[in-house]
Amino acid sequence: MDTSLWNVDAIEKLAYLIASVLFIFGLKLMAHPRSAVRGNVLGALGMALAVAVVLMRIDAYGVVIAGLVVGGAIGAVLAVKIQMTAMPQLVALFNGFGGLASVFVAGGALLQSKDPALDELLATGASGLIGAVTFSGSIVAFGKLQELALFRRPAKLPAQQAVNALLALVCVVLIGALVREQAWAYIPLVLVALGLGVALTNPIGGADMPVVIALLNSYSGLAAAATGFVIDNNVLIISGSLVGASGVILTNLMCKAMNRSLFNVLFGVMGAESAGGDVDEIYATVRSTTPEDVALILDGAQRVVFVPGYGMAVAQAQHAVRNLAKLLEERGVEVQYAIHPVAGRMPGHMNVLLAEADVPYEQLVEMDDINPTMDTVDVAIVVGANDVVNPVARTDPNSPIYGMPIIDVDKARTVVVIKRSLSPGFAKIPNPLFAADNTLMLFSDAQKALIEIGSALKEG
Ligand code: TAP
Repeated sequence: MDTSLWNVDAIEKLAYLIASVLFIFGLKLMAHPRSAVRGNVLGALGMALAVAVVLMRIDAYGVVIAGLVVGGAIGAVLAVKIQMTAMPQLVALFNGFGGLASVFVAGGALLQSKDPALDELLATGASGLIGAVTFSGSIVAFGKLQELALFRRPAKLPAQQAVNALLALVCVVLIGALVREQAWAYIPLVLVALGLGVALTNPIGGADMPVVIALLNSYSGLAAAATGFVIDNNVLIISGSLVGASGVILTNLMCKAMNRSLFNVLFGVMGAESAGGDVDEIYATVRSTTPEDVALILDGAQRVVFVPGYGMAVAQAQHAVRNLAKLLEERGVEVQYAIHPVAGRMPGHMNVLLAEADVPYEQLVEMDDINPTMDTVDVAIVVGANDVVNPVARTDPNSPIYGMPIIDVDKARTVVVIKRSLSPGFAKIPNPLFAADNTLMLFSDAQKALIEIGSALKEG
């Protein structure tokens, strides 16, 4: 047997191929909540294999192992400590650090390379540009989601488009210099691209954040793929492309869910400005209710739909929702959950929380499927949702969320909205649903309210 077939190169290529296949199957499995955990495990196995191959190839074990230990420890602490509600911020940071890693790896390769080829220099420029835009853009996105004072309002510079175009042009010129073997151009390129990331992300606000996060995720993948070309690493090219492509698909889904074009998201300011008229007038006819009264209404219901939103995540009320649903089912009530694609603060937020509370997947109904049947719902219980049930999205062309598809809860016979006050949601606009004739407001923390409704139902 020819043992040269099994040299380190061949083992590396085979291992990278297996890792890539694991990534692809992992992604496929992640498309459904039932198989998502298995998908995650496959992806992690692929990554472990890729890391093992890299370790096989290097000499500087000390530094790499120190990096693995420190990075791994930070990751583990974050994963355990992070609140579900802060997950999008964490994703923003992950994207950002992915971009920064690409900037450093491509820069390091440039330093080491004696006589870099044209394609390598082009890929280095792409890594520096996309990686730096991803990093600074993600830090701004993190600041907005964390509601840090500095980023609270979308800040648009005068002639913002011209500023962006100028920064982009300078980046192109610097990449041109880099390609002509002017290695000095890399650092100015990264600095200007950092500015471009801030300039592109800062004017975007409010309800458009989910799209921005998905897009930055895609950028971080593209930066990694470009870095893969720089250091000639196939698994980085493949995994980066997978992240880039899935980020674009997610961006597209998010845009559709909010009825916005990507161009409009990126170049039109929207979101954080309050709009929608005089709040006192809109809320003049609001009626509040009690858990006991809601239990009475539920007693006569045949079909009940829960509509979860960000407030359910804040209140950690998913188990309380499930327990109330079980009580209703024991009484022969048909129970479903209406899932809006951008309810909460990250894609799939509601699905993850409800799955954690063992809600059967068949009861989770997508917006497009449940909306045509909303007029046959006896009671719609809105649990900490606001923007995703705001009817102005259908009725007021001047509203910043006009055209965004919503769950049509207002068509149900009775609507019970559980939230603590009349405060607005993420888009900062009033919601006339709260004052509708068929709506009752239950002002309370969601978890507390649901437990109290359950107790009243048992007693009654
Ligand atoms: P929001 O419109 O943000 O409304 C959430 C409501 O929950 C608030 O009005 C708040 O009212 C209530 N709430 C907070 N804590 C609560 C608690 N402990 N108990 C009960 N209620 C509580 O949420 P939504 O309807 O899910 O809409 C999501 C919004 O976020 C959309 O604008 C969307 O574009 C945006 N967004 C989505 C994502 C993704 S990908 N899902 C990412 C970023 C942003 P009170 O303060 O009165 O209780």
